[in-house]
Amino acid sequence: MTSTPASAPALPTASAMDFPADFVWAVATSAFQIEGAHDADGKGPSVWDRFCRQPGVIADGSNGDTACDHYQRWEQDLDMIRDLGVDAYRFSVSWPRVRPSGDGDWNEAGLAFYDQIVDGLIARGIKPYLTLNHWDLPQALQDIGGWGSRATVDRFVEYAIGIAKRYGDRVVSIATHNEPWVVAQLGHETGIFAPGLKDRALAAQVSHHLLVSHGLAISAMRALKLKASLGIVLNLAPMYPATDSEADRAKAVLEDGKLRRWYMDPLFKGSYPQDVIDDLGEAAPRVQPGDMDLIRVPIDFLGINYYSRVMVSADGSFDAKKSGLELTDMDWEVYPQGLTDLLVRLHREYPVPRLYVTENGGAFKDPVGADGRVHDEDRTRYLDTHIAAVGDALRQGVPMGGYMVWSLMDNFEWASGYVKRFGIVHVDYATQRRTPKDSALAYRDFVLRQRALRQRRG
Ligand code: FCB
Repeated sequence: MTSTPASAPALPTASAMDFPADFVWAVATSAFQIEGAHDADGKGPSVWDRFCRQPGVIADGSNGDTACDHYQRWEQDLDMIRDLGVDAYRFSVSWPRVRPSGDGDWNEAGLAFYDQIVDGLIARGIKPYLTLNHWDLPQALQDIGGWGSRATVDRFVEYAIGIAKRYGDRVVSIATHNEPWVVAQLGHETGIFAPGLKDRALAAQVSHHLLVSHGLAISAMRALKLKASLGIVLNLAPMYPATDSEADRAKAVLEDGKLRRWYMDPLFKGSYPQDVIDDLGEAAPRVQPGDMDLIRVPIDFLGINYYSRVMVSADGSFDAKKSGLELTDMDWEVYPQGLTDLLVRLHREYPVPRLYVTENGGAFKDPVGADGRVHDEDRTRYLDTHIAAVGDALRQGVPMGGYMVWSLMDNFEWASGYVKRFGIVHVDYATQRRTPKDSALAYRDFVLRQRALRQRRG
């Protein structure tokens, strides 16, 4: 990797903060977004493979067939992660790559691919953080009801046990689901993500099945007495009323209930929030006796994916684009304070043993310059201020375990296709050439400095 250009920004705000010696610095990706090789070596189709084939659902009409071709280029990519100097790498396993129909036979070639990833990380001194479900459900399970069916819960538990037995003593962490809210809401209520269904009651049922499958998978993996710590990853965003009006404030409470309490309460308190149940009415999920106890099992960590806060207005009139607020290329506001607020609040309201920021980053338009570099000052500043926000949370007593940048490299950004770029490494999709952006160099220098401080402290 090239050296830091003299003009490259460091992370000055974050550098001024104190982080614990065992704090984990990492980068993150997910299988569908980077691997490509959609039908190689026995892999089955996922719901995202199928969804992308519907006209008009992906902004640039693209799909994940090739993505970053990580399936072929994994060695080079692992070297790139090593060169970033990070402690850890968060990735996901593609369920249909290792068990093509979600049921029946396992695919040894797919399992061997992740052996290479896990062993390759360890050989390079990088800790593997594994996620089981980053949305790519085997299409064969969708065909028989997907997450709307209780049978998928059983299949997921089998999948979790299989993966845990194979890798659970080599990876340091296993997360069951990534962002169950997205699977339920965007996949089954608004339908803008796979599998593209629009049914509110189904979405609520899906969220319940995801939570039950989480609890059962945690219990089953716990029984294996693995070295890996076990947890789940939620996408959370603090909700702020757009005005001080009573209506806006009430709406912000309800929206916070749908996103945050709907998942946090069952995981840590064993119940769904009544205001959201009331709001769902007839669409509330069917909960079998004992389900809430299955969900509320002890976990070792909670991962938080944080990108922005949400401004809520009762009549939906708040428009970020017209707000004058600083926005990323996703039109998400840059608001680091929201991350501190969120982490502190979670720590105060729930007995969470350890928290990680498992995703944080920004999409920005950053072309490769004439000098062959990507001068992404906006992303560098974003990382700097958000890492500092984590430092603020630590100072307020939140048990933070680590911070993971989304994302290692530009990749398939779901319904936005390849248009939105979140990577700290630029990917030229025509040539698959990887170019570390200035933000990657700044993050590397920051992490190396943290390590030097750590060593000096002993
Ligand atoms: C999160 C997803 C991740 C990525 C970022 C931008 O919701 O977990 O895969 O797409 O958003």
